[in-house]
Amino acid sequence: MRKSIAGALAFLIIGSTIGSGVANAHQPLVLSDSETTASKGPLIVDGTLSFAVRAAFTKAGQKKAFRAQFKEGEELAVQYLIVDKKPESALRNKSLPTLVITSPSGSKVTMKFTERTKFFEPYGGVNYLYLGRYNSKAQGGIYSFEITSKSRAAITIAVGEKEGVVGEVIRGTNEAPKPVASSTPKPVASSTPSPKPTAEQSGYTMEKVRANNSEASCWSVIDGNVYDLTKWIGSHPGGRGNILSLCGKNGTAEFAAKHRGDPNPQARLKGFLLGPLAS
Ligand code: HEM
Repeated sequence: MRKSIAGALAFLIIGSTIGSGVANAHQPLVLSDSETTASKGPLIVDGTLSFAVRAAFTKAGQKKAFRAQFKEGEELAVQYLIVDKKPESALRNKSLPTLVITSPSGSKVTMKFTERTKFFEPYGGVNYLYLGRYNSKAQGGIYSFEITSKSRAAITIAVGEKEGVVGEVIRGTNEAPKPVASSTPKPVASSTPSPKPTAEQSGYTMEKVRANNSEASCWSVIDGNVYDLTKWIGSHPGGRGNILSLCGKNGTAEFAAKHRGDPNPQARLKGFLLGPLAS
């Protein structure tokens, strides 16, 4: 119990520094009003990393949802918190939003409210209350977390306990990502020039790259390959601007300066490959 309080304290402290520009994995993840079902909600790619998911509701009967991915046997650690102030703190348990966790095999668990443990988060000067915790060994795959309101209220669901690792969130797609830690990288065209016929067949010329230079369609060249980054703009953990700045041009230097040798960005990039740049 002490350990998980310490873990949550850490995410709340770090989470509250995000606003001041410190990038960290323990970012708060705020669910939007359109994220009403698991498939419409964001996906936390590694559910063992510490996230604070916030869901606010204006009235009864509203839904918000998100997903988190685990490998078989990993620790699934979920905590339900509210801020210790009205209106939430004055609500009876039965008036608080429900949280239903669905495992990859379809079994459902409803978070039980078993405590009202006060906890002062000194950095933001905020008092929280723990209402419930759920821990188990995860099945491999994607868990869904569905929250349904019963009145006006805002809650925080803490997922994951690992600190200090940058986490990734995918929004705007219901596709499951390829496991990023996969040890067998698929062969992709590398920085060495691709065989000429392939490049010619691909037809991905610099002229076409230059034409796809906007948020609506964003292509970029990285290491001699053309990527369609359009869908990544809104999902990039490092912000939209850093992807938008690559649209319509050769982004090799910018990508390399930030991410050369980082396994996750390299793995993610592969998913956007159109083909080799035609010379
Ligand atoms: C297509 C190009 C890019 C891809 C696929 C990509 C991918 C990613 C991924 C997967 C992460 C999460 C980190 C992790 O899980 O290890 C990340 C974080 C980040 N990216 Fe990118 N990125 C791209 C371009 C850029 C560029 C051009 C910049 C800046 C010049 C940038 C700046 C950042 C920053 C600041 C973070 C936050 C965490 C950190 O500092 O590592 N990214 N990116």
